[in-house]
Amino acid sequence: RGLRVSDRGFLNTAVIESAITYIDGEQGILRYRGYPIEQLAENSTFLECAYLLIYGALPTRGQLAHFEREVLLHGIMHADATEFFGAFRYDAHPMAMLTSAFAYLGSYYGEANPSLQGQTLYTKCAKGDPEALRNMDKQIFRLIGKATTLAAMAYRVRQGREFVVPPTGMSYTESFLYQLDHLSPTDSFSASSSASSSPSPYKPHPVLARALDILFILHADHEMNASSTTVLQTGSSLPDPYSAVAAGCASLYGPLHGGANEAVIRMLVAIGSPENVPAYLAAVKRREKVLSGFGHRVYKTSDPRSFIIRKIADEVFAVTGPDPLLDTAMALHDAALKDEYFVSRKLGPNVDFWSGLIYRAMGFPMDFFPVLFVVPRVVGWVAHWRQMMLSPEGVKIWRPKQIYVGPSERPYASLDERK
Ligand code: CMC
Repeated sequence: RGLRVSDRGFLNTAVIESAITYIDGEQGILRYRGYPIEQLAENSTFLECAYLLIYGALPTRGQLAHFEREVLLHGIMHADATEFFGAFRYDAHPMAMLTSAFAYLGSYYGEANPSLQGQTLYTKCAKGDPEALRNMDKQIFRLIGKATTLAAMAYRVRQGREFVVPPTGMSYTESFLYQLDHLSPTDSFSASSSASSSPSPYKPHPVLARALDILFILHADHEMNASSTTVLQTGSSLPDPYSAVAAGCASLYGPLHGGANEAVIRMLVAIGSPENVPAYLAAVKRREKVLSGFGHRVYKTSDPRSFIIRKIADEVFAVTGPDPLLDTAMALHDAALKDEYFVSRKLGPNVDFWSGLIYRAMGFPMDFFPVLFVVPRVVGWVAHWRQMMLSPEGVKIWRPKQIYVGPSERPYASLDERK
């Protein structure tokens, strides 16, 4: 009653107080728990940043070792998951498989569902009950650990290849690359494996593994983006965190959120070569096309992540060889930054402008790009979820208002009376 204005797209609604990620869109600043993203990308690792985002401080050596051990240990999936994934069509979209797989995880861990615990579990967590907090940590380790395993399973289903058990003695991103591309003894197209029953000695390239680790750092959190908001909205009715993460995964699947780097590749392919860049930009200015990978709802200058990614791209191309689309990408980037249309609208490159080229050079198919966004973003989702569950005021169900614009009261008409 009395509500006259809605906030379409939540442009002006702050839904939560958060101490996790700070963004200044005018200055191009991104910080996790106060640490500049540039310093984290230079010095940290993905799992160290994960700890920072979730628990609020950089870990000590002992805390980091414990966190890494728990996350990597929980990467192992129950053998039944093979049957679950086997039920998907060979050409299912990997995001559809991954979204379902996160919800499927919830079927294993009833102890994480407060509705099965008389709604007391997270109240106990908020009061600092050690056992309840250990329970919560375990779900967090599982979600981060299993994200790579499930993503790798979705990848290999598409190729009709056996699943790979997560290896030991590797970092998070090395383990992920290993699970994606390791040739199992029965891989029919592996010449070396058909000659021997021992697994091939595949080891991810250190430069590519570090590049992916930095990309994961950059994608780990971005405050109230659509998928993190979805995780909190879902989490606010107190389901298990697997269900909340599945909802976040579904949100990220949409092309307005997780699909922009794929759109950049399609755009570059369509442009074809640097000579065609001016014609493309002219079409953008006539509003017939969009310059994918440029512009951002929050950043009104260049996205700070785009500078870091540009550097990683060079390091990756030094290993893989340059992508044939690179010259076109550079010509487009440089021309847009000099063009009055884009300058006056404060449209700079965002995180997606270069990331698709890196993923392509590393051999990932385009429909796998959003999966490479989900895996690190699981960390942001659980950091926000944990913060909300531990909030001293308790969790309040997210139930926004609407402005009703439908008919006023009218009498029911029987089928015969209707025209
Ligand atoms: N190409 C052409 N014109 C653009 C673009 C673009 N990429 N982005 C914005 N504009 C124009 C827009 O039409 C508007 O012009 P005018 O004032 O003359 O009507 C002006 O620039 C201001 O745009 P805005 O209102 O600030 O943009 P928004 O906040 O509504 O949309 C956006 C943000 C990201 C959806 C948009 O910039 C876009 O569609 N970009 C291309 C898709 C893309 O790269 N998305 C990835 C975002 S980063 C991912 C992440 O961080 O999660």
